[in-house]
Amino acid sequence: MFRTHTCGELRIDHKDNQVTLAGWVQTIRKFGAITFVDLRDRYGITQLVFNEILNTQLDDQPLGREFVLQASGKVLERTNKNQTIPTGEIEIEVTGFKILNKSATPPFTIQDDTDGGDDLRMKFRYLDLRRNAVKRNLELRYAVNRSARNYLHENAFMDIETPFLIKSTPEGARDFVVPSRMNTGQFYALPQSPQTFKQLLMVSGYDRYYQIVKCFRDEDLRADRQPEFTQIDCEMSFVEQEDILKMFEELIKRIFKDVKNIDYTDIIERMTWEDAMWQYGNDKPDIRFGMSICTLKKPATVFYDKADHAALINDAGFVVFDSAESVMAIAVPGGAAFTRKQLDELTEWVKRPQIGMKGLAYIRANEDGSYKSSIDKFYSEERLKAIAEASGAQKGDITLILAGAEERTRKAMSELRLEMGKQLGLRKEHEFKLLWVLDFPLFEYAEEENRWVARHHPFTSPKPSQIQTMIVNDPVIHDAANYLSHPYAQIKANAYDMVLNGNEIGGGSIRIYQRELQEKMFAALGMSQDEALHKFGFLLGAFEYGAPPHGGIAFGFDRLCSILGGSESIRDFIAFPKNNSGRDVMLDAPSTIDNSQLDELALIIKG
Ligand code: AMO
Repeated sequence: MFRTHTCGELRIDHKDNQVTLAGWVQTIRKFGAITFVDLRDRYGITQLVFNEILNTQLDDQPLGREFVLQASGKVLERTNKNQTIPTGEIEIEVTGFKILNKSATPPFTIQDDTDGGDDLRMKFRYLDLRRNAVKRNLELRYAVNRSARNYLHENAFMDIETPFLIKSTPEGARDFVVPSRMNTGQFYALPQSPQTFKQLLMVSGYDRYYQIVKCFRDEDLRADRQPEFTQIDCEMSFVEQEDILKMFEELIKRIFKDVKNIDYTDIIERMTWEDAMWQYGNDKPDIRFGMSICTLKKPATVFYDKADHAALINDAGFVVFDSAESVMAIAVPGGAAFTRKQLDELTEWVKRPQIGMKGLAYIRANEDGSYKSSIDKFYSEERLKAIAEASGAQKGDITLILAGAEERTRKAMSELRLEMGKQLGLRKEHEFKLLWVLDFPLFEYAEEENRWVARHHPFTSPKPSQIQTMIVNDPVIHDAANYLSHPYAQIKANAYDMVLNGNEIGGGSIRIYQRELQEKMFAALGMSQDEALHKFGFLLGAFEYGAPPHGGIAFGFDRLCSILGGSESIRDFIAFPKNNSGRDVMLDAPSTIDNSQLDELALIIKG
């Protein structure tokens, strides 16, 4: 037997037991004739003591960091107890040992606070994975996986695998493609998601499907995006939007309970996409804090009935506001106390190219009831008070105002709000706030091509009350400058995103299940009939054979784990992730292939 116990198992109750452990040498400390070794495995660390006799043996067979060691001996009570680790009350008096394997000196220390930089740790990921911090992340990932599977199984969902070598599934990214040797000049695409397969499974009658599955998307990478990532992908038949929202609220609550021991008893808030965009500046608001955006001015072409404060700022001779397409404000709690220096720093912050604003105006709502601002020259104190109040400012707060082109200002305001939330400590890592964002637009306008693209994906159904709008209207946009007045711009989808602490952790929709409407959708996206048949003939065909009403959702599994684990980067929760250029630096992939392989595939590399 290699070992009788793990390195995390022994306690004071094991005193005097004869045991054998196996693991990696974490540290070696020599005190005269005695040597202490910390032996580590996946379960913990146990202190080994090599007495005088064995110490001599150690001289012949010196140990080094990360050596694989088997040691037998007696469990002793430690005189010098270490309360910080579970095995800290005992140590093993070693009576025999065997070096199972040597190790080269690791390129970084295998400890919680490692001295290894990111690149080095990725190159030697198998060593990085030995570190507690990474191990804890993978344990959390596995706990989320188990919890999701248990819940879905209990609710009659069936795990069905779908293929990876397929034809393109449009989720808005580029496809990774795989050349086919047996079909010269032809390519498979790797799935951006199993979307069409899960819909086909509904047609086949598997009315509750799930899969924890890899998806592949060739898109620009960020901290929360990887080229291959994992979804908890689900689909249900004979459901309406409400059924799906309920089913998956319970899934997330279950995961909170199982993984974090959190009873999420709050009602999960719901917000329309439109409100999210106007009040928080983006479609995934962090609602752990308020500070919602007050739109003081918006372009005349944009309709939003909860934003009309233009009268507060107009006609004051302030050219910045008068000439801007939009003006937006937030009230920052306690901000009246910001120093000049803090405000200058914030102004520089909004001027950074990533934010791209020209400046920042402010109104202090002082404790003494007075209002002082950077725009005193143009606005009377009474008007400043009215603007501040519209933004939600109370005594002691500051109203921060940005002006500029609508989209940019909205984005900048959203960033500024998040930054202020961060600076004020309102985005608490251990607080979790879920939100459904509903009623997304069905279409988005693609300016370069002057056509509609699907906001979610082409299989998403319009709100039932708007199906007719879609059917009777011509999708062609004749007046590009006025695309918002096209009836398609107003069509909302039966689509929903689940947002956790300002991150989109899942998204889905009720699907189109009639061939005619699906064909209309493809046409609306500018696809000819031939193209639609070529790309999605299989799905259109399936819809002819009794497709049930259905809908579903997919959660970003890596993202969910990283948020639950309190990290910004999903890489920390993936055993073997890619770097920001999509490279696996450990494998050195992607890499070139042999000419013989290229020949077999009938491929020539250009240039
Ligand atoms: P969607 O494209 O919204 O929907 O993806 C679902 C969820 O997957 C996560 N996600 C990612 N995570 C890491 N890296 C990426 N590159 C990445 N891209 C997406 C997000 C997102 O919310 N088939 C539909 C689902 C459906 O309609 O049922 C789909 O894939 O958390």
